[in-house]
Amino acid sequence: PYPQYATLRETAPVYPHPLGFWVVTRYEDVFALLRSGASVELRNVDSGALENLRQKDESRKTPLIDGFSMIDRDAPDHTRLRRLVQKAFTPKSIQALAPRIGELVDGMLDRIADEGGADLVPALASPLPFTVIADMLGAPPTDHERIRELSGVIVRSLEPVADPAVMQEIENADAELAVLTSEMIAWKRRNPADDLMTALIEAEEDGDKLSDDELVAQIQLLYIAGHETTVNLLANGTHALLRHPEQLAALRADADLMPNAVDEMLRYDSPLQSSRRITLEPTVLSGVEIPPGAMVVAALASANRDAARWGEDADTLRLDREGARAHLAFGSGSHHCLGAALARLEASITFERMLKRFPDLSLAGDVTWNGRINVRGVASLPVSVG
Ligand code: HEM
Repeated sequence: PYPQYATLRETAPVYPHPLGFWVVTRYEDVFALLRSGASVELRNVDSGALENLRQKDESRKTPLIDGFSMIDRDAPDHTRLRRLVQKAFTPKSIQALAPRIGELVDGMLDRIADEGGADLVPALASPLPFTVIADMLGAPPTDHERIRELSGVIVRSLEPVADPAVMQEIENADAELAVLTSEMIAWKRRNPADDLMTALIEAEEDGDKLSDDELVAQIQLLYIAGHETTVNLLANGTHALLRHPEQLAALRADADLMPNAVDEMLRYDSPLQSSRRITLEPTVLSGVEIPPGAMVVAALASANRDAARWGEDADTLRLDREGARAHLAFGSGSHHCLGAALARLEASITFERMLKRFPDLSLAGDVTWNGRINVRGVASLPVSVG
């Protein structure tokens, strides 16, 4: 997609798509939009425009799942939900996971070593983030594999979906996951423990707590947001390293480079290519006025390659790039990714241990991509480990 983004940034940085939504591709504009008062609530789309979007099925970039989760809510609901979740999802609770993440990674690397190699996506990139979030929640005995499958279906709501049958499948998966999640919450109420789910159940501020529906929605969001994006960071990041041997060598030589390297990987190949906003007032970006009630796609991955922000080597992976952390892969403003610290921790631990363990890590076959436009990532990454 990167050449297309470059063309848009040059020729139509605020692009009115014929199907009725807008696409914003420059760093400055994406940043301004995310920090503006633009809405995330679907009900704010101009009703004529929404009808238009719905009729043209292929343009339904639509989580029609318009629920209680914070990512679909504006202030003041958003502020309240996020604050209650943040009470449970603290920096301390994330840091405390480091040893467990290390253990999980080592176990997965052991299995890869035994085989002399593996497809890194099913062997590590996909199971790791899912297991971490399930552990952190203190998920009770349940059908974890089913939850993972459902999460894989629901995440497709972030793609432009053409087929009504697929929309139906997504809605069914969402309903089924809601049932499984309520069952887990009911179990957890009877068996409280020192974990995130218990902390979410108990989180309180001035007598205000999350309702049952709200709990279900936030936990579903944590499962999906915590899993599907981090897979791409691990897989796309490894892929980028293996295609840039001199960068890989630099990282092997200097462990202190890791934090910046992870952010550069996020900038270089962003796990979530875009997010969406709905304008509430006329909004001028790059001299173009977007009317109120318009659906606007903020192309995060394009902003992250904008030479006007990053310089002429914006398309180059440079693990020591100064200020890589200013990328927009985690969004910006009030909805800035709540799990950014967790994602960074998982990636640092994974890359550190994988590179130490496998000095001869190399590509061992054809890499395939998942074919998604938004949650875009490597689907299959065969590696050999010598
Ligand atoms: C929000 C990206 C990992 C939980 C977001 C947003 C982005 C993002 C771009 C903002 C969406 C918007 O503005 O519309 C990513 C990436 C990740 C990642 C690239 C991995 C590399 C995680 C993890 C968790 C998580 C591990 C939790 C376990 C959330 C939540 C929100 C969010 C709860 C909603 C925040 C809000 O609405 O206030 N993420 N995320 N994410 N993310 Fe992440």
